[in-house]
Amino acid sequence: MGKEKGKRVLLTGSLGQIGSELAFALAERYGADNVITSDVREDSHGILDGAGMFVELDVLSAGDFDSIVRDYRINTIYHLAALLSAVAEEKPQMAWEINMKGLVNALEVAKENGCSLFVPSSIGAFGPDTPLDNTPQDTIMRPHSMYGVTKVSGELLCDYYQMRFGVDTRGVRFPGIISNKTLPGGGTTDYAVEIYYHAILYGSYTCCLKAGTSLDMMYMPDAIKAAIDVMEADPANLKHRNAFNVTAMHFDPEEIAAEIKKHIPEFNIDYEIDPLRQAIAESWPNYMDDSAAREEWGWLPEYDLARMTGEMLGELGERYGRGELEIEG
Ligand code: SER
Repeated sequence: MGKEKGKRVLLTGSLGQIGSELAFALAERYGADNVITSDVREDSHGILDGAGMFVELDVLSAGDFDSIVRDYRINTIYHLAALLSAVAEEKPQMAWEINMKGLVNALEVAKENGCSLFVPSSIGAFGPDTPLDNTPQDTIMRPHSMYGVTKVSGELLCDYYQMRFGVDTRGVRFPGIISNKTLPGGGTTDYAVEIYYHAILYGSYTCCLKAGTSLDMMYMPDAIKAAIDVMEADPANLKHRNAFNVTAMHFDPEEIAAEIKKHIPEFNIDYEIDPLRQAIAESWPNYMDDSAAREEWGWLPEYDLARMTGEMLGELGERYGRGELEIEG
């Protein structure tokens, strides 16, 4: 039974890595009857079955977006539809179109219908001029990637709609998200997901980022908790609204490989660097300071690298028939 009453939630990008798990968490918390999941693609494999009703929605269609919000009496929107960093770099114009026009439509629909709006920003909003160690909440943001340009612009737009029109916009800067249900689609941090699959399936992994490239990361249950908690936070306590730094751990490819080796001693990592992803990763924080989120709405992650690795290998080992692995954690 949901703690909060009265929420009617629309989720965009529901078939993506985060959406496909957040949908179930929202359905559990607010009741499946109060959750509408949506994506530009049909849910042909039924992966959202049980997480509320599914509708097809292209967020670039302002009219359809508005109709769905009206028809289903939505009062809370989780706007996840967006392109990730590596894909955005390959298709910058399309990234601008989807990430920005989709967001403007979400903001307008939220404004017109009095909805609260969750919009994820990212570590990608930072750039090489940002202090990359213990990156502050409020600091220099001059990203060099198109993804980052859309994320900073999105943060500013969300703040603007909140200040100018009183729209209840909120959000976090997600780090790389690690999960085992739906693969991420074309991000720079994807290696930290793939490495677990390859460890189970092949016992080895060829990494596209250099050893020593540290990035913030988070296991999916914590990401879901962040997305729900920031939306349920008492607004009286919020000095920031959008784009809270949140992190749970940070590591480089060697550290995650060493953790995997504790479970699979023969596991081996080698490197074949993708210059595009490497350049993006080097312009992102090594680790962020997330004290504003901790102070303003009680952010506290539950998973560190060791616990996450135990669960990821346990789950994937069972799924792919390596149940004999000794999984700790
Ligand atoms: N995981 C994302 C990416 O790599 C960062 O927000 O694009």
